[in-house]
Amino acid sequence: MRLQYRNKKATLWLMLAIVVLTMFLFKFTEFAPTCFFKNDITSADGSMMVREEKYVMDEEQKTYSYGREMPLIFIGGVPRSGTTLMRAMLDAHPDVRCGQETRVIPRILQLRSHWMKSEKESMRLLEAGITKEVMNGAIAQFCLEIIAKHGEPAPRLCNKDPLTLKMGSYVIELFPNAKFLFMVRDGRATVHSIISRHVTITGFDLTSYRQCMRKWNFAIEVMHNQCKEIGKERCMMVYYEQLVLHPEEWMRKILKFLDVPWNDAVLHHEEFINKPNGVPLSKVERSSDQVIKPVNLEALSKWVGNIPENVVRDMADIAPMLSVLGYDPYANPPDYGKGQPATMGK
Ligand code: A3P
Repeated sequence: MRLQYRNKKATLWLMLAIVVLTMFLFKFTEFAPTCFFKNDITSADGSMMVREEKYVMDEEQKTYSYGREMPLIFIGGVPRSGTTLMRAMLDAHPDVRCGQETRVIPRILQLRSHWMKSEKESMRLLEAGITKEVMNGAIAQFCLEIIAKHGEPAPRLCNKDPLTLKMGSYVIELFPNAKFLFMVRDGRATVHSIISRHVTITGFDLTSYRQCMRKWNFAIEVMHNQCKEIGKERCMMVYYEQLVLHPEEWMRKILKFLDVPWNDAVLHHEEFINKPNGVPLSKVERSSDQVIKPVNLEALSKWVGNIPENVVRDMADIAPMLSVLGYDPYANPPDYGKGQPATMGK
């Protein structure tokens, strides 16, 4: 009788131990099923849907976890403003990986922005249970998966899809610790680059300098406003002219802003092209054949003499953002090298 009682007690203890062990395994290890414990979405009856912890692994099996709180780096600007050069210089840093343009990230952000602009659609989504939190969670996860997995793992991940900055403040809502680098370039040089290199960008009419300058003005104004809204802590303006004229001075400022330690490699990005943990280039991106070169001044004033005279004459009216950003609309070219750090990049 006494023995039987002892056996029962031992069995109870054993069962309790099994329950505790199972709970421990579920809560703290990879055996955790996706519908217990964490607090992603809780329904009225207390049941939850949770996300599994995400991580990527490098060749030495080192894991890097990634999530919405990470300090992502985003590089934005009007295309042809030196965005690829900027990301190549950062890619050369051993701790940073940007990689090629993903193309899908600005598109999903744009899609969501269209849905939100339509009152009818917003209401339909809400009625379907797609609240702001559900939508933001899904879009953030989409962006994260692309950013984390389209290239090698690295302690600091970065994304260069220039137009993302048009939705910059929403990006910061998704990733509160992210930072933006806003590449700014003299619009006349940017437009000359677009037209002379036949770079197709939605809305730009490659047969008209006047129309392209207006489009540049509109796009850069939107980005400039977004950058101001995000604030100086999270958005830094980088002038292409200043970067190529004073690469070390600017890269030091940029790395400090990003909380990335200084490394000389950023001044020699061309040595790391297509090397492991270096600067991966796409065969089809339009800047790949320029970015393989060391930082140079070739593209600074190529536009001078190529813009129709009537457009040059009306420049201040066509593109008022030139003056806002510190470029003299009447100087062809402005003296990029002199006096500008006082008015530019501040
Ligand atoms: P041009 O087309 O006027 O030559 P983006 O990458 O944003 O599209 O910008 C492209 C511009 O960046 C090009 O301008 C290109 O010359 C310039 N660029 C790329 N690599 C460079 C380098 N190594 N040094 C200086 N400018 C560079």
